[in-house]
Amino acid sequence: MRQRPASGASQARQCTYASGCPAQHNYNRFGHFFPRETLGCGLSLSRSSAMVPECAWESTMAAKKAPAKQCKVLVLGGSKGGCGRSTLSRNLIVAARQAGLNVVGVDQDAQRTFKKWSDRREAAREKFPQLVECEVIASSVEEWASLDFTGRDLAIVDTAPGIEHGLADMISLCRQADYVLLPTSASTDDLESVVPYWTTLSESGVRGEFVLNKANRRTRSFASARSALNRHGRVAPVEVPLLEDIASPFASGLAVVDYDRSKGGEVMQDVWRHVRRELGL
Ligand SMILES: Nc1ncnc2c1ncn2[C@@H]1O[C@H](COP(=O)(O)OP(=O)(O)O)[C@@H](O)[C@H]1O
Ligand SMILES: [Mg+2]
Repeated sequence: MRQRPASGASQARQCTYASGCPAQHNYNRFGHFFPRETLGCGLSLSRSSAMVPECAWESTMAAKKAPAKQCKVLVLGGSKGGCGRSTLSRNLIVAARQAGLNVVGVDQDAQRTFKKWSDRREAAREKFPQLVECEVIASSVEEWASLDFTGRDLAIVDTAPGIEHGLADMISLCRQADYVLLPTSASTDDLESVVPYWTTLSESGVRGEFVLNKANRRTRSFASARSALNRHGRVAPVEVPLLEDIASPFASGLAVVDYDRSKGGEVMQDVWRHVRRELGL
């Protein structure tokens, strides 16, 4: 309830337009601010809004109370070792950081491929500070619920191979993810692993797709793998070729997307652009 001064000229008292606002305002005898200009709390009044002014303090507080922006979650999944989860995780985190996003990598594999690479990157950045910083935290699928991503735009989760342990945790993680990428080669062994894995996830309502990795488009196996995958789910419109350029930069904490005008780098940027759209970022 707005109080009015008893009578006479303006009186200074605490802002009554926003509860808790510490500013002192001069009120005229009608309970209006006086003068009708910018006041102590940054509030400004127009003639029409004299009775219901917008208190800058109140809007600042409202902004502080606004729910934190939602961190998107991208999971690199699949049960088979060597299919390309860590390769894609490392390139996508660099591409996302280059795009200016606040990204964190989560390494859930006990072998710590992703984390060790980011440690090497930190060392490389001392020599080449122009490399974007890529923070990766060592974790596990069981610890997922305890992680805090406040203020982040994106978390990229590199998962461990095998489904013997923690399948329920993995399904839960993938259900919470905004998108799941399942890299796979065109080999029968990889397909036999990734297809049932995806079937389990998709039956749980997970959003995601296969990405053909280590691909050679000229082979017959590539074409038949693509059509086999298509029968079971979505397949990313970009496939990643098998290239020495993709594997070799990892040793020094780099990724092929760090290099301008590299064939592998362009492909990885295409994967990033596609994933970014799917994530709505
Ligand atoms: N497209 C590719 N071209 C060349 N080497 C690749 C490619 N994808 C993966 N590799 C190599 O294959 C190995 C396994 O890949 P990785 O991403 O570590 O698999 P995962 O994390 O799924 O176990 C690594 O040595 C990696 O450098
Ligand atoms: Mg890995």
